[in-house]
Amino acid sequence: MPLPALQRLERKFEQQIRLFETKKGAIEREIDRHIELFERKKGVLERKIEQKFEAQKKKIGQTIESQKKKIETHIRLFEQKKGLRLDDEVRFFRSWFEKPLATGAVTPSGKALARTMAGYIDPAIPGPIIELGPGTGPVTEALVAQGVDPARLVLVEFNPHFCRLLRQRYPTATVLQGDAYSLRRLLAGLLQQPAAAVVSGLPLFTKPLRTRLRLVQEAFALMLPGAPFVQFTYATVSPIPKALDRVRQEASDRVWSNIPPARVWVYRKD
Ligand SMILES: C[S@@+](CC[C@H](N)C(=O)[O-])C[C@H]1O[C@@H](n2cnc3c(N)ncnc32)[C@H](O)[C@@H]1O
Repeated sequence: MPLPALQRLERKFEQQIRLFETKKGAIEREIDRHIELFERKKGVLERKIEQKFEAQKKKIGQTIESQKKKIETHIRLFEQKKGLRLDDEVRFFRSWFEKPLATGAVTPSGKALARTMAGYIDPAIPGPIIELGPGTGPVTEALVAQGVDPARLVLVEFNPHFCRLLRQRYPTATVLQGDAYSLRRLLAGLLQQPAAAVVSGLPLFTKPLRTRLRLVQEAFALMLPGAPFVQFTYATVSPIPKALDRVRQEASDRVWSNIPPARVWVYRKD
């Protein structure tokens, strides 16, 4: 190709490049404008969705609350009609529904089972009485009926609602909200003298054997020698193995009237 033609071609290219550069700037600005617009619209849309979601949540919350109130009114009326008190059953069922494994039962222990457990406690022996997993307090009530001063009770319960209830019912008792399986840590520095007994409603079989063993050993360390560790179970076998060093075991008859039927085991370390 002759030189002038080549130069003309080169000038043409340069012209195209300059044109492209000018257009590129404009296109970039246009894209930026669109992105900004999109971001703004997205923000508005997000806020709208959030507001709608919050409004729905509030509405559902209000519906649940009003349904709850209706159910509670029905329960109250039923209780009045039948001369019953279902609050504890309802509370317990709710707790089981939320945490079945931790609650371990759908209904609180019946009076016969609670009396059988309390029957292993001698109120004349001094010292604190520790109850593990008191729930709504049927065994606590039986202990008090047995002659135990509520001020001697140390109630260790995981469920904060049950703790609130227990504090209302037994204002002089010590109510600790915490994990009974960390007994030593939970009670560190609290007991002024060795405990006279430990009474447990914990669903022990939901825990591995070594956790159960650690719990009873920690309990024995807090108690007078020979003091009872009283435990109920729906199972047919003892939650603590028989061949434990220096630990004696005894069992009650099965309490058939309880739902479900249960047995009380007592462990003592000499
Ligand atoms: C089977 S219920 C027995 C309740 C009551 N003692 C009765 O006889 O009706 C077990 C109770 O133990 C409590 N619990 C379960 N795990 C616990 C833990 N690690 N520490 C303290 N309380 C616990 C539950 O919240 C529940 O109240």
